[in-house]
Amino acid sequence: VGDQIALTPALGWNSWNCWGLSVNDAKVRAAADAMNRSGLINHGWTYINMDDGWERDTRNPQGEVVPNNKFPDMAKMTAYVHSLGLRVGIYSSPGPKTCGGFLGSYQHEVQDANTYANWGIDYLKYDWCSYGDLFPKPSLDDMKKPYQVMAAALAGVNRDILFSFCQYGMGNVWEWGGATGGNSWRTTGDINDSWSSMSGIGFRQDVCAPFTKPGNWNDPDMLVVGKVGWGPSLHNTHLTPDEQYTHISLWCLLSAPLLIGCDMSQMDDFTLNLLSNDEVLAIDQDADGKPARKAIVDGDIQVWTKPLSDGTLAVGIFNLGSKATQATVSLSDLGLYGAQVVRDCWRQRDLGTFTGVYTPAQMIPSHGVLLVRVRHAKD
Ligand code: GLA
Repeated sequence: VGDQIALTPALGWNSWNCWGLSVNDAKVRAAADAMNRSGLINHGWTYINMDDGWERDTRNPQGEVVPNNKFPDMAKMTAYVHSLGLRVGIYSSPGPKTCGGFLGSYQHEVQDANTYANWGIDYLKYDWCSYGDLFPKPSLDDMKKPYQVMAAALAGVNRDILFSFCQYGMGNVWEWGGATGGNSWRTTGDINDSWSSMSGIGFRQDVCAPFTKPGNWNDPDMLVVGKVGWGPSLHNTHLTPDEQYTHISLWCLLSAPLLIGCDMSQMDDFTLNLLSNDEVLAIDQDADGKPARKAIVDGDIQVWTKPLSDGTLAVGIFNLGSKATQATVSLSDLGLYGAQVVRDCWRQRDLGTFTGVYTPAQMIPSHGVLLVRVRHAKD
């Protein structure tokens, strides 16, 4: 794959789901500190991304974008985050304005790419807002254009900057995002911390799943775990613990970028455990980046699979219903023949050897999941 970046999906944090437009220098540094102190940094978590709200509303006389007074010195801040061994992300929009009404990159793309590189930025999330106003009924070419322009601008700077599109899946972006220079692209509108939002997004991803590969990832939006809620209304996620296991398991099977959306300085043990299980994260980060598949739908039970680079199969057995349910999985429906060893990834232990049919000993809880890795039993 040469010198490509984002060979596995990005693991990191983004300010939006907890701080909204009130993000500032101290909050970004606090996130970096928490990533470091919590130990998440040792599980592959890398990016500290500020979202919308950092931009001043006018450019300087040279036409350069400037941070507002919440960010006194961007280069110093990124140097601090880098000193912890982490990377920094930033946000902009191709329109004159961002979604939050701040200054966008319209007609200053090359200049902005250079500014980001000079500050030491490693990741750009690039929205669509207000660019759309220029094209009320955008053709496919209209949709691609701003991303091509910024991709070319980023290619021209002497720094690797991961390019993440945020245009809500318009025009089936998964079909052309990679060819247009994207390392990842949002496949949906904004997520929130409700079961209907998270499951509605997650279980619809089978359409775009075939388009993932190293360097190119579908992005079903950020994680709604821990304390979220746009600053003033910060609260514990409204997802139940089982729904959070579903969220992380499904996003890992989908090879989604995992961007923690919570205030990491207030992470409880449950949230930390959710985000630091190496056997679970390994499914997301598998080197082959093979597409997930919705393999079985049986009433409220859905079985999603992802083939891993060591020849094993990651299998999520999800219960979308409101009652605990006994699942029975025909292994031949998953392409598995002969004796199979089933390993529970969340609990990190083998559950036994099965041939033909796998019937989990326990019921799958309502809105919950059993996430397993299946390997051929040695003769
Ligand atoms: C859009 C994006 C969000 C966030 C906001 C910022 O809504 O989808 O993820 O970046 O803009 O204003």
